[in-house]
Amino acid sequence: MKQHDPAERLVVLTGAGISRESGLETFRDAGGLWNRHDIADVCTPQGFRRDPMLVSRFYNERRAELAHAEPNAAHRALATLEQAARDGRWNGELLIVTQNIDDLHERAGSRDVVHMHGELRRVRCLSCGATPEWLGDCLPDTPCPACHRPTLRPDIVWFGEVPLHMERIAAALAACDRFVTIGTSGTVYPAAGFVAEVRDHADTLDINLEAPATPTLFDRTLVGPATRMVPRWVADILGS
Ligand code: APR
Repeated sequence: MKQHDPAERLVVLTGAGISRESGLETFRDAGGLWNRHDIADVCTPQGFRRDPMLVSRFYNERRAELAHAEPNAAHRALATLEQAARDGRWNGELLIVTQNIDDLHERAGSRDVVHMHGELRRVRCLSCGATPEWLGDCLPDTPCPACHRPTLRPDIVWFGEVPLHMERIAAALAACDRFVTIGTSGTVYPAAGFVAEVRDHADTLDINLEAPATPTLFDRTLVGPATRMVPRWVADILGS
């Protein structure tokens, strides 16, 4: 009986940089969102309580951008890798943990995606907990489709709130053989701490437009645009 080699367990952490070439803005690059918006106003629960209309407008602008965005070659390359695992063309398992709130991974075909900062395409009702699709310009007085109370908020994790799916993420990090970050500045915790958590048991790679601030954190780095570097990296894995 041939003993199958255990599948390689790969965790990929993505940030705003993977969606930059799809036309979505990053946060901390030159011209990024946090150069034009105050995090305290649009990305905290206090900001939402203070001015829900301002926050709704900020996220409605993000949704309008997303409506015109398409997955790019980097998103598609990761979907190809996941499909290769399903087809048996790659003896591996891929989990995408994304800090992004866009749905470009899913629209590229990826299925195993964990959004630790929530998702732009849904809202959450503070009264009944429902998380309906965010259809049309959702404003503070939009009634919840489930309980009809005007208590909807973006289903997004703001600063000071607890990221989502952390138990699943911690289990995947503890078990992974390889950890790859794509398009993230590595400045926001807990995601920024993941590489330190896995360094003792996993190979680590950073793919970014710029060299990482602390290159020693990663075993390897690939510097260049995600749409060029990620397809090449996936092709190397698949031997194609
Ligand atoms: N290809 C690869 N990397 C890119 C590209 C590109 N085309 N363009 C930009 N980058 C890199 C930048 O060099 C930077 O390191 O993407 C990173 C974007 O960093 P941030 O703007 O800080 O975005 P991110 O790391 O995702 O932010 C983390 O902070 O504000 C919160 O919740 C928000 O999820 C976000 C979190």
